[in-house]
Amino acid sequence: MKKILETDRLLIREISEDDYEGLFQLHSNPIVQKYTGESPVKTISEIIKGTKERTFNDYKTYGFGRWAVILKSTDQFTGWAGLKYLTDFNEIDLGYRFLPEFWGRGIATEVSKAIIKYGFEVLNIEKIIAVAMVENIASIKVMEKAGMIFDKKAPYEEGAEDDIWYKIENKNYEND
Ligand SMILES: CC(C)(COP(=O)(O)OP(=O)(O)OC[C@H]1O[C@@H](n2cnc3c(N)ncnc32)[C@H](O)[C@@H]1OP(=O)(O)O)[C@@H](O)C(=O)NCCC(=O)NCCS
Repeated sequence: MKKILETDRLLIREISEDDYEGLFQLHSNPIVQKYTGESPVKTISEIIKGTKERTFNDYKTYGFGRWAVILKSTDQFTGWAGLKYLTDFNEIDLGYRFLPEFWGRGIATEVSKAIIKYGFEVLNIEKIIAVAMVENIASIKVMEKAGMIFDKKAPYEEGAEDDIWYKIENKNYEND
């Protein structure tokens, strides 16, 4: 399993077949999926298919993607976070999704800061964006706490409701 980076509390590594069960717990939970625009998955085979077709493919194509986030103290899978190239927008998106038992402990903020730093300093990405539904206050707070700034209100998909878009640019990046 390829390690990407580490923070005080967390290990961020590539997702592997060992994570299918954890990913299923995450993506089958309606509370987790509520503001993601995705319906809860019903079977683990949907997870396996999606991980192979999207996540593993992104690692191969771009050298980055959505990664597993492991709590080092207990070795638990907490969820995923990472960067994704959005072909429709020609942008690189920061995303995150965690199991509810790990919410409210600053994990998303800790991971997001570390991933932005990695994206700018190791991958030399010029700009990272993040998109959330207007109602997803926790996600928008994470974007702000990670140093991103409001960009625009615009739909993610044609004809859909407006989402909230944030951005951060390498040229303006100040690592604290
Ligand atoms: C959004 C999510 C990633 C946040 O993860 P987290 O680890 O709990 O986030 P953090 O603890 O780093 O920070 C969350 C912040 O939002 C705040 N918050 C959480 N829920 C809130 C709410 N309903 N209203 C206002 N603020 C809220 C927290 O208090 C915290 O801010 P604070 O540190 O100033 O107190 C997590 O809730 C999640 O996985 N949700 C489901 C998937 C999802 O929606 N992903 C994002 C899609 S865009």
